[in-house]
Amino acid sequence: MTAAAAHREHARTAPDPAAVVDLRGVRVSYGQDPALRGIDLRIAAGEQVAVMGPSGCGKSTLLHVLAGVLDADEGTLRVLGEDLGRLREKDRGQLRLARMGMVFQFGDLIGELTLRENLTLPLQLLGGRPARIRAEAEAMLERLGLGEVADRRAARVSGGQAQRAAVGRALIHQPALLLADEPTGALDTVAADTVMDALMETVTEQGTTLVVVTHDNRVAAHLDRLVGMRDGEMVG
Ligand SMILES: Nc1ncnc2c1ncn2[C@@H]1O[C@H](COP(=O)(O)OP(=O)(O)OP(=O)(O)O)[C@@H](O)[C@H]1O
Ligand SMILES: [Mg+2]
Repeated sequence: MTAAAAHREHARTAPDPAAVVDLRGVRVSYGQDPALRGIDLRIAAGEQVAVMGPSGCGKSTLLHVLAGVLDADEGTLRVLGEDLGRLREKDRGQLRLARMGMVFQFGDLIGELTLRENLTLPLQLLGGRPARIRAEAEAMLERLGLGEVADRRAARVSGGQAQRAAVGRALIHQPALLLADEPTGALDTVAADTVMDALMETVTEQGTTLVVVTHDNRVAAHLDRLVGMRDGEMVG
Protein backbone atom coordinates (compact mmCIF):
# COMPACT_ATOMS: atom_id res chain seq x y z
CA MET A 1 0.00 0.00 0.00
CA THR A 2 1.35 3.48 -0.84
CA ALA A 3 1.65 6.10 1.89
CA ALA A 4 -1.25 8.05 0.37
CA ALA A 5 -3.45 4.95 0.25
CA ALA A 6 -2.50 4.12 3.85
CA HIS A 7 -3.43 7.65 4.88
CA ARG A 8 -6.82 7.36 3.14
CA GLU A 9 -7.42 4.00 4.74
CA HIS A 10 -6.56 5.44 8.16
CA ALA A 11 -8.89 8.41 7.59
CA ARG A 12 -11.63 5.99 6.60
CA THR A 13 -11.32 3.72 9.62
CA ALA A 14 -9.79 5.67 12.54
CA PRO A 15 -12.21 7.31 14.94
CA ASP A 16 -12.55 11.05 14.51
CA PRO A 17 -11.97 12.47 18.01
CA ALA A 18 -13.66 15.78 17.19
CA ALA A 19 -16.90 14.20 15.98
CA VAL A 20 -19.92 14.01 18.27
CA VAL A 21 -21.36 11.33 16.00
CA ASP A 22 -19.11 8.95 14.06
CA LEU A 23 -20.87 6.00 12.42
CA ARG A 24 -19.06 3.60 10.09
CA GLY A 25 -20.78 0.89 8.13
CA VAL A 26 -23.75 0.67 10.50
CA ARG A 27 -26.27 -2.01 9.60
CA VAL A 28 -29.52 -2.77 11.38
CA SER A 29 -32.19 -5.32 10.48
CA TYR A 30 -35.56 -6.05 12.00
CA GLY A 31 -35.56 -9.83 11.66
CA GLN A 32 -34.75 -10.45 7.99
CA ASP A 33 -35.64 -6.92 6.90
CA PRO A 34 -32.70 -4.52 6.60
CA ALA A 35 -33.53 -1.01 7.82
CA LEU A 36 -30.01 0.51 7.73
CA ARG A 37 -27.69 -0.86 5.04
CA GLY A 38 -24.28 0.56 5.88
CA ILE A 39 -24.52 4.08 7.24
CA ASP A 40 -21.44 6.31 7.41
CA LEU A 41 -22.14 9.57 9.17
CA ARG A 42 -19.93 12.07 10.93
CA ILE A 43 -21.32 15.07 12.76
CA ALA A 44 -19.08 17.69 14.36
CA ALA A 45 -19.72 19.38 17.69
CA GLY A 46 -22.32 22.12 17.37
CA GLU A 47 -23.45 21.04 13.91
CA GLN A 48 -27.17 21.16 13.15
CA VAL A 49 -28.25 18.37 10.81
CA ALA A 50 -31.59 17.62 9.16
CA VAL A 51 -32.24 14.01 8.13
CA MET A 52 -34.80 13.73 5.33
CA GLY A 53 -36.13 10.93 3.18
CA PRO A 54 -39.26 8.99 2.30
CA SER A 55 -41.36 7.15 4.84
CA GLY A 56 -39.76 3.84 5.81
CA CYS A 57 -36.23 4.76 4.66
CA GLY A 58 -34.78 4.30 8.16
CA LYS A 59 -34.76 7.77 9.73
CA SER A 60 -36.26 6.77 13.08
CA THR A 61 -34.12 3.65 13.15
CA LEU A 62 -31.05 5.86 12.73
CA LEU A 63 -32.10 8.08 15.65
CA HIS A 64 -32.74 5.04 17.84
CA VAL A 65 -29.26 3.74 17.07
CA LEU A 66 -27.75 7.16 17.89
CA ALA A 67 -29.63 7.20 21.17
CA GLY A 68 -28.29 3.75 22.01
CA VAL A 69 -31.77 2.27 22.42
CA LEU A 70 -31.31 -0.02 19.40
CA ASP A 71 -28.16 -2.07 18.74
CA ALA A 72 -26.43 -2.12 15.37
CA ASP A 73 -25.88 -5.57 13.85
CA GLU A 74 -22.67 -4.42 12.19
CA GLY A 75 -20.41 -1.39 12.07
CA THR A 76 -18.98 0.94 14.66
CA LEU A 77 -20.72 3.82 16.35
CA ARG A 78 -19.09 6.43 18.49
CA VAL A 79 -21.44 8.94 20.03
CA LEU A 80 -20.21 11.71 22.37
CA GLY A 81 -16.81 10.02 22.42
CA GLU A 82 -18.18 6.67 23.60
CA ASP A 83 -18.19 3.40 21.70
CA LEU A 84 -21.91 2.70 22.07
CA GLY A 85 -21.61 -0.93 20.99
CA ARG A 86 -19.28 -1.62 23.92
CA LEU A 87 -20.94 0.39 26.67
CA ARG A 88 -22.87 -1.50 29.31
CA GLU A 89 -26.61 -0.88 29.36
CA LYS A 90 -26.35 1.04 32.61
CA ASP A 91 -23.65 3.35 31.23
CA ARG A 92 -25.62 3.90 28.05
CA GLY A 93 -28.61 4.91 30.13
CA GLN A 94 -26.48 7.35 32.10
CA LEU A 95 -24.99 8.82 28.90
CA ARG A 96 -28.49 9.28 27.51
CA LEU A 97 -29.84 10.87 30.66
CA ALA A 98 -26.94 13.23 31.32
CA ARG A 99 -25.76 14.20 27.84
CA MET A 100 -28.56 13.59 25.35
CA GLY A 101 -31.99 15.06 24.86
CA MET A 102 -34.70 13.43 22.81
CA VAL A 103 -37.87 14.84 21.30
CA PHE A 104 -40.23 12.32 19.82
CA GLN A 105 -43.55 12.79 18.15
CA PHE A 106 -46.54 14.35 19.84
CA GLY A 107 -47.58 12.34 22.88
CA ASP A 108 -44.29 11.75 24.62
CA LEU A 109 -45.19 13.85 27.63
CA ILE A 110 -46.73 12.22 30.68
CA GLY A 111 -50.36 13.32 30.42
CA GLU A 112 -51.07 13.11 34.14
CA LEU A 113 -48.24 15.48 35.03
CA THR A 114 -48.29 19.24 34.47
CA LEU A 115 -46.04 20.78 31.84
CA ARG A 116 -43.82 22.08 34.64
CA GLU A 117 -43.53 18.60 36.17
CA ASN A 118 -42.78 17.07 32.78
CA LEU A 119 -40.05 19.63 32.20
CA THR A 120 -38.32 19.06 35.51
CA LEU A 121 -38.17 15.26 35.18
CA PRO A 122 -34.65 15.03 33.70
CA LEU A 123 -33.25 17.37 36.35
CA GLN A 124 -34.91 15.36 39.10
CA LEU A 125 -33.54 12.12 37.70
CA LEU A 126 -30.09 13.72 37.57
CA GLY A 127 -30.48 14.80 41.18
CA GLY A 128 -30.36 18.59 41.15
CA ARG A 129 -31.20 20.84 44.10
CA PRO A 130 -34.93 21.64 44.30
CA ALA A 131 -34.50 25.43 44.27
CA ARG A 132 -32.27 25.23 41.21
CA ILE A 133 -34.66 22.84 39.45
CA ARG A 134 -37.54 25.23 40.09
CA ALA A 135 -35.59 28.19 38.76
CA GLU A 136 -34.45 26.38 35.63
CA ALA A 137 -37.93 25.10 34.89
CA GLU A 138 -39.32 28.60 35.31
CA ALA A 139 -36.77 30.06 32.90
CA MET A 140 -37.36 27.37 30.28
CA LEU A 141 -41.16 27.68 30.54
CA GLU A 142 -40.90 31.44 30.02
CA ARG A 143 -38.54 31.11 27.09
CA LEU A 144 -40.91 28.66 25.41
CA GLY A 145 -43.92 30.91 26.02
CA LEU A 146 -45.52 28.34 28.33
CA GLY A 147 -45.72 30.41 31.51
CA GLU A 148 -49.52 30.64 31.41
CA VAL A 149 -50.12 26.91 30.96
CA ALA A 150 -47.20 25.60 33.05
CA ASP A 151 -49.44 24.13 35.73
CA ARG A 152 -51.90 22.46 33.38
CA ARG A 153 -51.72 18.75 32.87
CA ALA A 154 -50.02 17.79 29.63
CA ALA A 155 -53.16 15.94 28.54
CA ARG A 156 -55.03 19.27 28.61
CA VAL A 157 -52.90 21.53 26.42
CA SER A 158 -52.76 22.08 22.67
CA GLY A 159 -50.49 20.12 20.33
CA GLY A 160 -48.16 23.08 19.89
CA GLN A 161 -47.92 23.68 23.63
CA ALA A 162 -47.20 19.99 24.25
CA GLN A 163 -44.58 19.97 21.53
CA ARG A 164 -42.86 23.03 22.99
CA ALA A 165 -42.87 21.39 26.42
CA ALA A 166 -41.31 18.26 24.89
CA VAL A 167 -38.56 20.47 23.43
CA GLY A 168 -38.08 22.09 26.85
CA ARG A 169 -37.83 18.74 28.57
CA ALA A 170 -35.21 17.59 26.06
CA LEU A 171 -33.09 20.72 26.52
CA ILE A 172 -33.46 21.63 30.19
CA HIS A 173 -30.38 19.70 31.30
CA GLN A 174 -28.28 21.29 28.52
CA PRO A 175 -27.46 18.09 26.65
CA ALA A 176 -24.51 17.95 24.28
CA LEU A 177 -26.59 16.10 21.67
CA LEU A 178 -30.27 16.61 20.86
CA LEU A 179 -32.10 14.00 18.77
CA ALA A 180 -35.50 15.05 17.47
CA ASP A 181 -37.84 12.86 15.43
CA GLU A 182 -40.42 14.93 13.55
CA PRO A 183 -40.64 17.48 16.38
CA THR A 184 -43.22 19.45 14.42
CA GLY A 185 -44.94 16.52 12.72
CA ALA A 186 -48.30 17.06 14.38
CA LEU A 187 -48.42 20.84 13.96
CA ASP A 188 -49.67 23.42 11.49
CA THR A 189 -47.09 25.80 10.00
CA VAL A 190 -47.56 28.60 12.54
CA ALA A 191 -47.18 26.27 15.52
CA ALA A 192 -44.29 24.46 13.76
CA ASP A 193 -42.45 27.76 13.35
CA THR A 194 -42.92 28.59 17.03
CA VAL A 195 -41.56 25.19 18.08
CA MET A 196 -38.58 25.41 15.69
CA ASP A 197 -37.77 28.97 16.74
CA ALA A 198 -37.76 27.96 20.41
CA LEU A 199 -35.69 24.88 19.66
CA MET A 200 -33.14 26.67 17.48
CA GLU A 201 -32.71 29.56 19.90
CA THR A 202 -31.89 27.25 22.79
CA VAL A 203 -29.72 24.90 20.76
CA THR A 204 -27.70 27.74 19.25
CA GLU A 205 -27.22 29.39 22.62
CA GLN A 206 -26.13 26.14 24.29
CA GLY A 207 -23.96 25.00 21.35
CA THR A 208 -25.92 21.74 21.23
CA THR A 209 -25.27 19.30 18.39
CA LEU A 210 -28.62 18.71 16.75
CA VAL A 211 -30.02 15.90 14.61
CA VAL A 212 -33.60 16.48 13.44
CA VAL A 213 -35.63 14.03 11.37
CA THR A 214 -38.22 15.89 9.35
CA HIS A 215 -40.41 15.75 6.27
CA ASP A 216 -40.70 19.50 6.29
CA ASN A 217 -38.43 21.66 4.09
CA ARG A 218 -39.25 24.64 6.26
CA VAL A 219 -37.81 22.86 9.28
CA ALA A 220 -34.72 21.74 7.34
CA ALA A 221 -34.16 25.35 6.25
CA HIS A 222 -33.39 26.25 9.89
CA LEU A 223 -30.39 23.89 9.96
CA ASP A 224 -26.76 23.90 8.71
CA ARG A 225 -26.67 20.64 6.85
CA LEU A 226 -29.05 18.27 5.11
CA VAL A 227 -28.52 14.51 5.05
CA GLY A 228 -30.71 12.55 2.64
CA MET A 229 -31.70 8.94 3.20
CA ARG A 230 -33.28 6.39 0.89
CA ASP A 231 -33.90 2.74 1.50
CA GLY A 232 -31.55 2.44 4.48
CA GLU A 233 -28.69 4.37 2.89
CA MET A 234 -27.39 7.92 2.83
CA VAL A 235 -27.84 9.77 -0.44
CA GLY A 236 -26.74 13.12 -1.81
N1 LIG B 1 -40.12 -2.35 15.20
C1 LIG B 1 -40.01 -2.70 13.90
N2 LIG B 1 -40.17 -3.99 13.52
C2 LIG B 1 -40.05 -4.35 12.22
N3 LIG B 1 -39.78 -3.48 11.23
C3 LIG B 1 -39.64 -2.20 11.54
C4 LIG B 1 -39.75 -1.73 12.89
N4 LIG B 1 -39.56 -0.39 12.91
C5 LIG B 1 -39.35 -0.03 11.63
N5 LIG B 1 -39.39 -1.11 10.81
C6 LIG B 1 -39.15 -1.11 9.36
O1 LIG B 1 -37.85 -0.62 9.12
C7 LIG B 1 -37.85 0.30 8.03
C8 LIG B 1 -37.36 1.66 8.52
O2 LIG B 1 -38.31 2.17 9.45
P1 LIG B 1 -38.17 3.59 10.15
O3 LIG B 1 -39.18 3.66 11.22
O4 LIG B 1 -36.75 3.78 10.53
O5 LIG B 1 -38.53 4.55 8.93
P2 LIG B 1 -38.72 6.15 8.88
O6 LIG B 1 -37.80 6.65 7.83
O7 LIG B 1 -38.58 6.71 10.24
O8 LIG B 1 -40.22 6.28 8.35
P3 LIG B 1 -41.35 7.39 8.71
O9 LIG B 1 -40.98 8.62 7.92
O10 LIG B 1 -42.61 6.77 8.21
O11 LIG B 1 -41.36 7.62 10.18
C9 LIG B 1 -39.27 0.31 7.46
O12 LIG B 1 -39.30 -0.61 6.41
C10 LIG B 1 -40.10 -0.17 8.63
O13 LIG B 1 -41.25 -0.86 8.17
MG1 LIG C 1 -39.95 7.63 11.56
